[in-house]
Amino acid sequence: MKGFEIYKSIDELDTESKYLIHKAKEAAHHAYAPYSKFHVGAALLLDDGTLVTGSNQENASYPLCMCAERVALYSAVSQHAGKRIIKMAIVAHKKNHKELSAAASCGACRQVMAEFEERQQKPFEIVMHHTDKQWIKCASAASLLPFVFTKDSLNE
Ligand code: THU
Repeated sequence: MKGFEIYKSIDELDTESKYLIHKAKEAAHHAYAPYSKFHVGAALLLDDGTLVTGSNQENASYPLCMCAERVALYSAVSQHAGKRIIKMAIVAHKKNHKELSAAASCGACRQVMAEFEERQQKPFEIVMHHTDKQWIKCASAASLLPFVFTKDSLNE
């Protein structure tokens, strides 16, 4: 796969993606989102089969809110240094809503994902809920952020 693919339903996705989506949904239960009431869950699969999850954590000082994706990514590298990320799934839903919302990762998370990919020298897939039960699968973090800012820019 190059770039991204859109799937009409979860049934069309591979088994690993379905499993990660399930885990991301569970992770969303641990979101602390009293301000936005937007609950996000992220699940990462590492190259040895380890699963790491994260959920968004908000704060009364709004700019301190942390996205689910970055909670999961920072947790993975802190607890499982040296292991590569293979795949990531992200889901979101409004408080007390069963139906999923679109879970397009924000630009800040895409920037962080891109540097994780660069650090591990290997792309990882990203599966995000789209709209109307559709799913987007991206081949890499790089494909989510063209013209990315990297450490190379600092050295030019
Ligand atoms: N949020 C995420 O967790 N991930 C994203 O990529 C987009 C936004 C969270 C942050 C905040 O707690 C809430 O969703 C509303 O923006």
